[in-house]
Amino acid sequence: MPAEPILESSREGATILVFEDPLSACAVAAERIAATIRDRASNRRKAVLGLATGSTPEPVYERLVAIHKQESLSFANVVTYNLDEYYPISPFDRNSYRLYMHQKLFDSVDLPAASAHVLDGTAPAGFVDEVAAAYDRWIEADGGIDLQLLGIGRNGHIGFNEPSDLTIERAIALPTRLVSLHPTTIVDAARSFGGEDKVIRGAITMGIKTILAARSIVILAFGAGKESAVRDAILGPISPALPASLLRTRTAETTWLVDRAAARSIVAELSR
Ligand code: F6R
Repeated sequence: MPAEPILESSREGATILVFEDPLSACAVAAERIAATIRDRASNRRKAVLGLATGSTPEPVYERLVAIHKQESLSFANVVTYNLDEYYPISPFDRNSYRLYMHQKLFDSVDLPAASAHVLDGTAPAGFVDEVAAAYDRWIEADGGIDLQLLGIGRNGHIGFNEPSDLTIERAIALPTRLVSLHPTTIVDAARSFGGEDKVIRGAITMGIKTILAARSIVILAFGAGKESAVRDAILGPISPALPASLLRTRTAETTWLVDRAAARSIVAELSR
């Protein structure tokens, strides 16, 4: 049984659950994903999942693999779409998100290879726009995303939708596309790339429009480094300058699963 949250709050249609530690929050995220898969399977439908990479969701995938093995959760009727991939990058590069997904999930469950979609970091430059547009078309053809798992950058990015000075209307209409990484994202990626100068500057990211269209969103944020992004996303102005705040333009279900450290400066406000 996943641990109970230490605080539960509703705000502008979103549910915010604060947990003592990241593992407890990740167990809840994994249970949500498993429930979505089971629920869709019981209706003879495939479950369409949007997946995140990075350090935050690693325990979610560990837990999902355990549920697959111990509770026979099958991924045979699951379709996955990852949020983003560096560009250009080989799928064998140790920083490739395709490699990450194979290591953390794809190779350990019965997900059909053709159902696991990751944006193509090897697409020739002249075809990237088409690769991105096709991704949105495939998601739509699969009936849209049932559950989208998100992390958040220290600068408030979701996927690699970085802070911008666009209007809200234009930002929430952004499709899947090629982007340049924000300086904060480059600093944060420096450790895994072995230095800031080695970080790949580009990425293909699922668009904000695509993310917001998911029927359900579970967003994870852990650690003091995420504290200000979490506070601004939940309590600050809705603004493309803090892309995660755009989640508040949704009417569909959004659940924040955060740990005590990331929630430190909002706990008092949320408890009121
Ligand atoms: C990864 C992604 C990013 C990360 C974010 C947080 O697919 O879309 O938005 O979720 O950069 O990364 P971590 O979890 O490494 O702190």
